[in-house]
Amino acid sequence: MNDEIKAVILAAGKGTRMKSDTPKVLHKIFEKPLLGYVLDNVKNIVSESFVIVGHQAEKVEEYVKKDYTTAKTVLQYPQLGTGHAVSMVCPELQNFNGQVIILCGDTPLITENTLKNFIDYHNSNNSDLTVMSTIFENPTNYGRIIREKDGSLKCIVEEKDAAQEEKAVKEVNAGIYCLNWAKIKPAFSQLKSNNAQGEYYLTDIIAWGKSQNLNVNAYILENNEEIYGINSRSNLAHATKIMNERKLNELMDNGVTVVDPSSTWISQDTIIGSDTIIYPATYIEGKNKIGSNCKIGPCAHLRGDVEVADNCKIGNFVEVKKAKIDHNTNIGHLSYIGDSELGSNINIGAGTITANYNPLTKVKSKTVLKNDVKIGSNTVLVAPVTVEEGANVGAGSVITKDIPKWALAITRAPLKILPDWVRNYLLK
Ligand code: UD1
Ligand code: MG
Repeated sequence: MNDEIKAVILAAGKGTRMKSDTPKVLHKIFEKPLLGYVLDNVKNIVSESFVIVGHQAEKVEEYVKKDYTTAKTVLQYPQLGTGHAVSMVCPELQNFNGQVIILCGDTPLITENTLKNFIDYHNSNNSDLTVMSTIFENPTNYGRIIREKDGSLKCIVEEKDAAQEEKAVKEVNAGIYCLNWAKIKPAFSQLKSNNAQGEYYLTDIIAWGKSQNLNVNAYILENNEEIYGINSRSNLAHATKIMNERKLNELMDNGVTVVDPSSTWISQDTIIGSDTIIYPATYIEGKNKIGSNCKIGPCAHLRGDVEVADNCKIGNFVEVKKAKIDHNTNIGHLSYIGDSELGSNINIGAGTITANYNPLTKVKSKTVLKNDVKIGSNTVLVAPVTVEEGANVGAGSVITKDIPKWALAITRAPLKILPDWVRNYLLK
């Protein structure tokens, strides 16, 4: 046995109740797929992850390959149950003699901290097999943890196979396991499908372990919210809400003011410095980094890959995507900044748009504004374009060429005043 840990993440199921063309584990919370949350939670714990794919395997494979270099996908076809799913990694782990942690790809609320405590419990008890359990007042649909009279584990019984008195048990299987791989591996060739669903149940490894006199334990998770699984759109909305509340509490604990938590949405992957104020109705998704002493919102939308340095203002009805903004820069009102790099001490007038996308060529281009640039209201910056240090752009301009340092650029048509025109028109 060694200390190495590998993860197996079950993600081959169909997710029928989502009623979607997208595989369940690719449904998103704050622009990140559910599977991404699970992979991120294990990435600091394990040396390698195996994602079991099946339903719409290509889409899930594509996502894993693109974003997670230490994860591999393993195809399960047909999908004959959770035990069958895990057995798919047996060839990959033939000579592995460390621990394997098994999780589901549709359980994004589990935390890295809980997983660490779970593994510590498994190791310190010298456990061969540990299952995570939790208590639900209404345990419907979960597998029930059945214990012997002395309190030790006996087996797990699925809802559909459970007798009446078993259904009354409130301790349920959370669907997360830690296995001493070399010892539990033989179970996978011995699982049977003689149950109500005709499936190879992963849960049967508990009774198998007991029958082999192995050390089998349950780790009881106090906060049952963490194992909340996503099966429907309403589950997805509920999980988003929980995740958001967690994030806002963490930010407030770290010195960020959230004026109205009930209307503020901030992704887990957003870092915000202290003394920044987030005003109501702000929506921040994806990965972002916001400095200290900033003012964000009300009604701001940060769409990911946004970096804002200290003392900046992103005001009302401002949308920002893929942009780096240096300190003391203000984007006060009604603007769109995308694919941009903004220096420090910049002022962006109301209604400024970076025209970053050419819908004919489908090419996105970059806007660069150097330090101390001032952009007048209602300007369109047609990318690719650079405004050099200290330059000013007059209100209402459409900027299609690079502007040199300290210049004034203005494309506004000259103002015409026709004296008495209105009166003459009326008297005609
Ligand atoms: C499973 C457990 C149940 C536990 C619950 C916790 C079994 C038999 N039951 O039930 O005890 O309380 O999780 O949420 O394990 N999957 C595959 N291949 C398959 C079948 C499923 O990859 O052939 C994946 C699914 O995509 C899903 C996960 O395994 O991510 C769990 O499968 P699911 O059908 O949701 O099992 P539950 O009925 O929820
Ligand atoms: Mg499930």
